[in-house]
Amino acid sequence: MNKLKPCVIWFTGYSGAGKSSLACEVERQLITLGIKTSLLDGDIVRSTLCKDLSYSKKDREENIRRIGHVAHQLVDAGLVVLCAFISPFRESRDNVRALFKHGAFIEVFVDTPLEVCEQRDVKGLYEKARAGKIKEFTGIDSPYEKPLNPEIHLSNTLGLTIDESVENIITYISN
Ligand code: ADX
Repeated sequence: MNKLKPCVIWFTGYSGAGKSSLACEVERQLITLGIKTSLLDGDIVRSTLCKDLSYSKKDREENIRRIGHVAHQLVDAGLVVLCAFISPFRESRDNVRALFKHGAFIEVFVDTPLEVCEQRDVKGLYEKARAGKIKEFTGIDSPYEKPLNPEIHLSNTLGLTIDESVENIITYISN
């Protein structure tokens, strides 16, 4: 493998799409290659750095803005940074992209259809959202704007396994 340049790998998609699992597995493989990494994940960041924020559009924008700056600092320090956030708004993602040098922001669209995420319902949140117990849930009563031109598009219709998806990402960043 060529020497990897510091960069951010930004996973976006619905809750339950598989962003965190993929980010985790990519990170594990990068570590075995001796690469310094950092993983920022929605569920953790939202109980720490961004615990004051809700899921309104304004607060989601603020969530992503803060994460973008943290990721930028870490990339500056020479790490490969993995970010797993729904990040439903195109403009927010593009604002983060604009912080980085060309080629250092790699958007990975984890394109698992809403029906599949809802059927999995790993955290039971879709059920609660459908019952009206959680408001502004992405895909139910809050929008998700698909990336128009992601560097990597992991489409469900390709039927890729986690391993194949991870391999796609590792291959992309190694070239
Ligand atoms: S983002 O929209 O601001 O990017 P983020 O990725 O940080 O969201 O957090 C998403 C996680 O918060 C989900 O995976 C889910 O576990 C939890 N969550 C709680 N309430 C909501 C909601 N209303 N919409 C989406 N996710 C929610």
